[in-house]
Amino acid sequence: MSTPATATRLRSFGTSIFAEITQLATEHGAVNLSQGFPDFDSPEFLKQAARHAIIVGNNQYARTQGMPRLNEAIAGWFRRFGGRPVDPHDEITVTSGCTEALAACCLGLLEPGDEVVVFEPYYDAYLPDLAMAGAVPRFVTLHAETDGSFAIQEDELRAAFGARTRAVILNTPHNPTGKVFSREELAMIAALCIEHDAIVIADEVYERLTYDPDKPHISIATLPGMAERTVVLSSLGKTFSVTGWKIGWAIAPPHLTAGVRAAHQFLTYATSTPLQHAAADALSGVKAQAYVTELTALYADRRRFLCDELRDLGFGVNEPEGTYFIMADHTAISERLGLSGDIEFCRWLTTEAGVATIPPSVFYTNKAEGERLLRFAFCKRQKTLYAAIWRMRRALT
Ligand SMILES: Cc1ncc(COP(=O)(O)O)c(C=O)c1O
Repeated sequence: MSTPATATRLRSFGTSIFAEITQLATEHGAVNLSQGFPDFDSPEFLKQAARHAIIVGNNQYARTQGMPRLNEAIAGWFRRFGGRPVDPHDEITVTSGCTEALAACCLGLLEPGDEVVVFEPYYDAYLPDLAMAGAVPRFVTLHAETDGSFAIQEDELRAAFGARTRAVILNTPHNPTGKVFSREELAMIAALCIEHDAIVIADEVYERLTYDPDKPHISIATLPGMAERTVVLSSLGKTFSVTGWKIGWAIAPPHLTAGVRAAHQFLTYATSTPLQHAAADALSGVKAQAYVTELTALYADRRRFLCDELRDLGFGVNEPEGTYFIMADHTAISERLGLSGDIEFCRWLTTEAGVATIPPSVFYTNKAEGERLLRFAFCKRQKTLYAAIWRMRRALT
C-alpha cells in the first residue's frame, strides 16, 4: 500500500521528541535528564493502597465519571489547595491522566474551526489534541527575558483573540519554562476570555510543585467570573511520583463537564478501578500531605543544586518558580564548541557527554525562540544529578 495509513490530521506530528531522545540516550548509555518522570520509587503507602485495592476485589469497571470516593477526595483537595468548592459528582470527571482530560476537553468542547489560544513553548499533546478536534491554534509566545524569566506581551495576547476564539489552553506552573503565572497575568487572560466569551482549559498538573513563597500557584478558575468558564485539569502523577498510574481529572461547572464526559465515555469509559481507590487514599490521607511537603522540599534542593552546577559550567540559568524543569541558555558553550541550535547541541550532549536533555525549539512554532535553550529535568535521584554534572564537566572543561 503506497498511501500513508496515518490520518492527514495527525501526519505532521511524527514521532515525539521524547521517543527520539530516549532511543539516543539508550544507545549511548546517557544519564537521562530529558523526560519528566522520577527515577526514584513511588511512596510505599500508595503502592500498598493499590495492592490492597486489587486484593480485596476492586477490579471491575468503575463509574464512568470516577469512583465516588475519589471524586470526593479530589473535591476536598481542590478546595484545600486554592481551588473553589465544587460538587464532587456533577463537576468532576476522573480520566486516564491529564492526557486524556486534555483530549476529552478538545473533543468534547470544541467545534472544527474554533480558534484556541496556546502559549508557546507548549506541552506536546496540545497541538495534536486540537488537530483531532479540528480546532485551530493561535500562538502567543512566552518570551525568554534576559533575566531568565518568561513574559507575555499584552499586545500579542490581545491580538491572538478574535471572533472565532473559543478557548485558551493555559498551563501553570508551566512546562517547560517553570513559569508560575502571576495573578496580574491571569487577570489579563481572564479579562480577554470574558470579553470574547472563551473558556479556559487550565492544565495544572504541576499545581503543588512551586518553590517561591511569593509566587504561589493560582488557579484561574478562582478569579472573578472564571469558575463558569474554566475546566481545571490535573493528575496524580507529578505530585505523588506515580506518572505511570495515569489517574487524572477535569473539574468544571456542569455545562462544561457535560462536554468533557461526552468525549470521556467513548475515549476510555472509565479509569483503572484499583488505582482510583489508591488515588482516593493519596488525596485524603495525612501521609499524603507529609509526602507532598517532603517532595517539594527535595525538589527545591535539587533545583538549586542543578541550577548552581549548570551556571558553573557556563549555562545561563534562572531558577524556575515551579515544575521540575530548568530551561538553560547554552549559547556561550555551544558557540565555543562550534555547534548551532538546541537540537545539534542536545544530540552532541547525549552522544559526546552522555547526558540527555530536551531541545525546546520543538515546543515552539517560532523555532528561533527556543534554539538557544535546553530543558533539564531535575525530578531525579541526587546521584543521577551528580553523574550528569560529572559527565558534563568532563566533556566541557
Ligand atoms: C503540562 C503537562 N500536561 C499534561 C501532562 C500529562 O499528564 P498525565 O501524565 O497525567 O497524563 C504532562 C506530563 O508531562 C505535562 O507536563
